Amino acid sequence: MVKKVAIITNGGDAPGLNAVIRAIVKTAENNGIECYGYIEGYRGLLENNYIKLDSRTNASGLLHRGGTIIGTSNSTNVFNLKCEENGQVVYKDMSQKCIDNIKEAGFDCIFTLGGDGTQKSGRDFSLRGVNVIGVPKTIDNDVAHTDITFGYNTAVSVATEALDRLHTTAASHHRIMVLEVMGRYAGWIALESAIGGGADVALIPEIPYDINKVADKVKERISEGKLFSIIVVSEGAKPIDGDIVIKRQLDNGKGLDNIRLGGIGERVAEDLERLTGLVSRCTVLGYVQRGGTPTAYDRVLSTKYGVKAMELAMEGKFNNLVTYKEGKLGYISLEEVVGENKEIGAASGNTAKSNIRKISMDDELVKTARNIGINLGI
Ligand code: F6P
Repeated sequence: MVKKVAIITNGGDAPGLNAVIRAIVKTAENNGIECYGYIEGYRGLLENNYIKLDSRTNASGLLHRGGTIIGTSNSTNVFNLKCEENGQVVYKDMSQKCIDNIKEAGFDCIFTLGGDGTQKSGRDFSLRGVNVIGVPKTIDNDVAHTDITFGYNTAVSVATEALDRLHTTAASHHRIMVLEVMGRYAGWIALESAIGGGADVALIPEIPYDINKVADKVKERISEGKLFSIIVVSEGAKPIDGDIVIKRQLDNGKGLDNIRLGGIGERVAEDLERLTGLVSRCTVLGYVQRGGTPTAYDRVLSTKYGVKAMELAMEGKFNNLVTYKEGKLGYISLEEVVGENKEIGAASGNTAKSNIRKISMDDELVKTARNIGINLGI
């Protein structure tokens, strides 16, 4: 019987985190279960820092609020924590301390709201006897085995609005406007916002691009009297003869995604200005796309996810990730979700080779884009 549970929000924030928290807390309270929240993700778990969540006080008015009221951390890998000892950097497995903290607090289950890095730690805790239920969060929509992660719809909406705004300034100045969006190694945000925002080109990690083909598309538009073009570039896009652009490499300990992407948009803008003669400008959408209020879709999805997560806990179906596939809520074992990520800890912590969900060439989204004339750089 589950009597006392705790929520952990970990990794980059995403719109809908608070809505999931609200749904878990409400479902818990309605079933006589106490709900707590660890402060700042796995760091709070390590430091035994948690608060009681109560829908009448601190967990009230959450549905529309961006961010997470209990904070997050994307630099705390408790299984391989970067520490300093006698002036030397050392990496320590601090997971036993976390497990002791969970036991001491008497939590029957922890809910891990996060992307693949967070779920990997959740899986590792579950292998050590902790009851875990994961909820798939990320604006990137790249978690395996679920059709959609919460936060993604909001990111696409923000990017689409940005494209609407870039359209009017592009048309007025006869410019190429490049919008660089997030998404890591998957092009979901780029491709869906390109379709929603009427872009002329979408460059995504799944399809290495030929810049000459992109320039041809811009020139074709010029020949039709359309003296501007809108290009969406995913941060993980790369040219056929080049590599992804890395903005920064972190050192957070093994097993985390230590690479931060960014910079490809500026490169595309420069290349296109040279190849087409049109003035080009690049806008990097950045953190705007994951801040602020969630869309109605994300609020509903987050609520469904939160309720389902609590239901699974009450049914004793631990060590699973809540999923949404073909219009139905379900669950899958954490082992299957992070299974192919096992090698990651051994290398740089880069998730480029992980089992993240990517758009495939025969995806209907790709076909939709191509059929309406969006150039994909090929
Ligand atoms: O995974 C979400 C995300 O926003 C990615 O789209 C982006 O590449 C990354 O996080 C940025 O990470 P950070 O918040 O560490 O800069």
